Amino acid sequence: ASSTEVDVSAIEPGQAIKAVFRKQPLFVRRLTEREIEEANAVDASTLRDPATLAEMTKEGHTDMLVTMGVCTHLGCVPLGAGEGEIKGEFGGYFCPCHGSHYDTAARIRKGPAPLNLEVPEYAFTSDTTITVG
Ligand code: FES
Repeated sequence: ASSTEVDVSAIEPGQAIKAVFRKQPLFVRRLTEREIEEANAVDASTLRDPATLAEMTKEGHTDMLVTMGVCTHLGCVPLGAGEGEIKGEFGGYFCPCHGSHYDTAARIRKGPAPLNLEVPEYAFTSDTTITVG
């Protein structure tokens, strides 16, 4: 299995980039303080696929959200990484295929997708680099 290195140093708060991991889109998003607050204000136990922001990210890096860019409904690529203000009703990602809305922690909040965006195996290999896979 091959791993992918991503330089995250140029991602400003509020921005997300797309990379490729095992031929599939990978989203890396740096959350703003407000997006972090929004994610933490939700009672995770009420969610379709319960997870806290801390569980979706790495300790010490809760502002860095790394997920696959693959909708868990039927596999379309959600919008929200590099599409300006198109982030859906919960400020994270929006899948236009059948209308799934993900929040600022990439958790499914509305629409047909059953699960949150998948968090791949990854680690910070420096403060500015992640290695995925
Ligand atoms: Fe995303 Fe159906 S594939 S909502």
